[in-house]
Parts: sequence; C-alpha cells; structure tokens
Amino acid sequence: MSPPVRIPVLLPRLPAAEAILPHLQAIDSDRRYSNFGPRVLEFEARLAQHFGTQPGTVLTVTNATVGLTLVLRTLDLPAGGLCLMPAWTFAATPSAALAGGLTPYFAYVSPKTWALEPAIARRALDAAPGKVAAVMPVSPFGAPLDLAGWELFQKATGVPVVIDAAAQFDGLQVGRIPSVVSLHATKTLGIGEGGLIASTDPVLIRRAKTLSNFGFYGSRSATGVGINAKLSEYGGAVGLAALEEWPAQRARFARVTQDYVDAFTRHPAIQLSPGFGQGRVSATCSVLLPVSAARVEGGMADAGIETRRWWGTAAHRMIAFHACPRTEVPVTEMMAERVLGLPYFSDLTTAQIQEVAHTLARAVEAAPAI
Ligand SMILES: Cc1ncc(COP(=O)(O)O)c(C=O)c1O
Repeated sequence: MSPPVRIPVLLPRLPAAEAILPHLQAIDSDRRYSNFGPRVLEFEARLAQHFGTQPGTVLTVTNATVGLTLVLRTLDLPAGGLCLMPAWTFAATPSAALAGGLTPYFAYVSPKTWALEPAIARRALDAAPGKVAAVMPVSPFGAPLDLAGWELFQKATGVPVVIDAAAQFDGLQVGRIPSVVSLHATKTLGIGEGGLIASTDPVLIRRAKTLSNFGFYGSRSATGVGINAKLSEYGGAVGLAALEEWPAQRARFARVTQDYVDAFTRHPAIQLSPGFGQGRVSATCSVLLPVSAARVEGGMADAGIETRRWWGTAAHRMIAFHACPRTEVPVTEMMAERVLGLPYFSDLTTAQIQEVAHTLARAVEAAPAI
C-alpha cells in the first residue's frame, strides 16, 4: 500500500465565501436566479473585456462539454457526418461530438505541438471514410493553437472548425472560429462547473444563446432544437468574484509555472508540455517522459506525490469510442504511454516543486528504458 498523499496532484482554489457574498446578496435583493440575469450578463461582458473583444462575443454555459455540443448544433451540420478531432484528447471532446449528432473521427497529432494541425487535418480529410462535417482541434493542456492556420483551413475546405480550448483561459485569442473554454474547478479560472463560448461572430453567439435556452428567441416558441445550457446566477456570482481575483490568482500560477520550468532545466530528458511557461499559465503540468509513465507512477506514489494521466489511454482507446473511425495515431499512442500529469495548483511551494522534479528524475533514471 502506498503512503498517504503529501503533495496532491491538484488542490483547486476558488474565490472564498466572503468574496462571493456581495454578489449573492445582490441575487437576494433582485431575486433573479437564472435566464440571463444581471450577474451572468455582467460576467460575459467582463470576460469579453478580458479577452479584448467587443460585447456580445462571449456566451457562458453550464460546462465546456455542453458548450462544444451547442456550437455544433448552432452550425446546423448534416446529422451523421464525421467530426475530425485528435485522438489525443479528453473524453469530453468525442462525447460532445456524439451529442451533437456527429461521429468522432480521430487523427494523429504533431509530436512538436501535441495538437491536430491544419496540415494533418487536410490529410485526414482526404483519407476520411465519409463526409467530414466539422473539425474540432484541441488545445493540449492549454497550449495556443494556430488560429490563423485554422481560419485558412476553414476558408479553403469549407469545413467549419470549432476549437476545444477547455484549458486555455489564459491567453485565449478570440477570432471568428468559436473557442470553447472550461470554467471547471480544475481550470485556472474556475467557478465550480461552467464554460464559455467565444467568437467575434455575433450571429453565431446569438444563435448559440438561443439554442442554449430551448431555442427561444424573443418568444416562447422554439426556433431550433435547443437544449438548456444556461449558467445560473449563482455561477455568474462566483465568476464575477473569480475575475476580480484573477490578477492575483494568475500571478500565483505564473510563479508555480516558472518554478517548474526552472526545476526541469536540470533534467532535460523530461519535457514539459508544448508552450508550458511561455507567457501563459495552464491548468495542469504534464510532462513527456523518456520512459513509460507506468514505470515511475509507483515510485512517485511511494514518495507521497500524486500524479495523474489526465487524458488516460487517449480517446480512441476508450470503450465508448474505440469503434469510431481513425487514422493511424502513433504519436498519440506514445503520448498515452509516456505523458504524466504532475502536481500543479496555485499554492504549491517552490520546495514542493523541486521535490517533485527531483523525485521524478530519480524514478526515470531508475526505470528501464522503453
Ligand atoms: C480537452 C477537454 N475538453 C473538454 C473538457 C470538458 O470541460 P467541462 O468539464 O467544462 O465540461 C475538458 C475538461 O477537462 C478537457 O480537458
């Protein structure tokens, strides 16, 4: 049996009760609890300001998974089409496509960026076993994607692109292509459960808003097959408090991130995920090992350090999706075997980070090579 966890893999920190209280009292006094009330509208306006975009470019939703499904529905795609996506992703991405009436079609990722890139998507389109109705690139652990490249791809192929940017709150670039960000407690701007859709296309955001409320737009008659994806005023209250605290919270994450970058410069065989520490903060710290993660997990647990393979076996090997079509995915297979999530949260100390890096490096050295 492993000793008790001394350093957990995650210890979220959301706004404290006293920071949320003024917003809760405002709910008590105006008695608006949901349906695009004042807290949610203000949270959306402040999010747009935060991203440097116009009002009306951000819609909040109950979570990112529902947000992805909602955007697919907003695009009115032919049912039964394929949704091209990387196999290297969390279960939510293919689940959202299936809920949107599409079949996931998994492709490989670049070993450099860990992401599905426009050039890979072009090749996957040519090899597709059916009509590709949409493409859903995924930001790997919050790394930025090639937005300009995806805009060119969309223009050239006519296939709409929806970005799963679940962990990419910090540094999100908002363009016409819709991005969906998670506000789950495990993310950098966490509100418990929540998500946002961001796009500079106001028509898309308005349509998504309509479909997030049963398809109602100005009347109680459904104008499309909608769902209920509305964030409640309580979610909005936590969101407002979280945004007020964001500069301090981001600074804490930035310090933790820099400590990891410093700690791993001494261990070059272990690679931080692409983009980690390059001017933005992520929600997790995942590293690529030169050996199988299975060979070091036990040693880390024995030292009281919790680790997690955030994306498990990768989506194409999960029971729910293994029958979905795919290209060969050798890089994803390698990632699924060798990528490990390390403790990462805003109040992790420098000494803890050095201990994690040192313990991992020792475990890697002791592990038989692949
Ligand atoms: C890549 C990816 N997509 C989607 C999601 C789902 O986000 P949510 O929990 O807000 O539904 C996650 C959650 O971590 C994720 O990692």
